[in-house]
Amino acid sequence: MSWLYPILHRKPASNLLVVELAALTSGDRVLDIGCGPGAAVRGAAPLVEEAVGADPSGRMLHLAHRRSRRIPNVRYVQAPAHHLPFEDDLFTAVWTIHSMHHWGDEEAGISEAHRVLGSGGRFLVVERIDPGKPWGVDAAGIHRITSMMRKAGFADVDWTKHRVGGADEAVIVGRG
Ligand SMILES: C[S@@+](CC[C@H](N)C(=O)[O-])C[C@H]1O[C@@H](n2cnc3c(N)ncnc32)[C@H](O)[C@@H]1O
Repeated sequence: MSWLYPILHRKPASNLLVVELAALTSGDRVLDIGCGPGAAVRGAAPLVEEAVGADPSGRMLHLAHRRSRRIPNVRYVQAPAHHLPFEDDLFTAVWTIHSMHHWGDEEAGISEAHRVLGSGGRFLVVERIDPGKPWGVDAAGIHRITSMMRKAGFADVDWTKHRVGGADEAVIVGRG
């Protein structure tokens, strides 16, 4: 990942989109898997009880901490998607933005998301629709993600396409 990423993407449109689509309320406890510098965590914090970011990169978390210093209900943990250090059913909303294509084991990460999400909670996966690019998904990639989510136990799995920040984003949603 380029060292420029957190500088160029301080408030990505994709992150703001997810905060909006998650329809957050004051009782929510949210988890952002692969949170990077934490823009979506900070976007969610004023709307929810607690906003947590998880990321395996110490460099990303250093930036996330630095940019979140004055926000009391935010915390970050260093962890990969396939090994989340949280108890079962802790969160009411979980999301991952432009991160799943980095996961070594997507099925294990999705299964962890399902474990830490309480029954009825929502899981949102955002990937850029950019066929042929290492960071992009095409129709087959979206189908693969929806299949893995159903297999992990998510219900009502569906996806929508959104044009934000000059890009097409696939938002895949399931219910825990
Ligand atoms: C393109 S950045 C996106 C960051 C943030 N979600 C955003 O939209 O700005 C991808 C992030 O995924 C993280 N990542 C890489 N491997 C991961 C894994 N196995 N589990 C969770 N996150 C991972 C990276 O450290 C990086 O912060």
